[in-house]
Amino acid sequence: MRENVLAPSMLSADFKILGKQLKETEEAGAQYIHFDVMDGIFVPSISFGMPVLSSVKGATDQVLDVHLMVTEPIRYVKEFASCGADIITIHLEACEDPGAALDAIHACGVRAGISIKPATPVEELIPYLDKADMFLVMSVEPGFGGQAFIPESLERIRQLRYLLDERDLEKDVEVDGGIYHSNVAEVLDAGANVIVSGSGVYKGNIRKNTAEFMEILRNHE
Ligand code: DX5
Ligand code: ZN
Repeated sequence: MRENVLAPSMLSADFKILGKQLKETEEAGAQYIHFDVMDGIFVPSISFGMPVLSSVKGATDQVLDVHLMVTEPIRYVKEFASCGADIITIHLEACEDPGAALDAIHACGVRAGISIKPATPVEELIPYLDKADMFLVMSVEPGFGGQAFIPESLERIRQLRYLLDERDLEKDVEVDGGIYHSNVAEVLDAGANVIVSGSGVYKGNIRKNTAEFMEILRNHE
């Protein structure tokens, strides 16, 4: 049976009380911290990077799920690994050679993910189905929290899970963007098992939001 995982996106946290908020998600059952790195080139915005990751590593036992929205992320793989990343996900569209980036991540002893933006055909992941450990389907245009879930993403998740099942590959399918209590069940039913949520966790009561997500995730295993 596949474990469902909640990965609250730190991008929506209140950074002046970050340590406290991360603890709240951990104590309420979230297994991962989703750490969005933006370079101002691959996506318009700039977020945070290595020094922040090192601090977070020291503050929690959660799995650090690093989402690199960065052009040619291979340049930074070693540094993010040494700052404590447990999973590093790169964007297919950001790499000249996505396979080399995945190899570089594995060479650091870290789990490797590959992500596609909403307009990238799912079939473009086929060459990496064996190599990557996790596949991230963006359900919003990467770059900002708080956007609306793109409904066509459900079909894309189904398509990806089918491609994996066809090959007997039991891998993680992560979905990121616009996920709330109201639509997470559909995302899980489509075949995802790693759920990123920023606004859905951090807006309002963090403990309660996390616990409610976890209940839905457990009921769908
Ligand atoms: C968007 C980021 C997301 C974002 C999700 O580029 O990759 O992880 O923080 O935020 P919500 O859940 O608010 O859409
Ligand atoms: Zn993300």
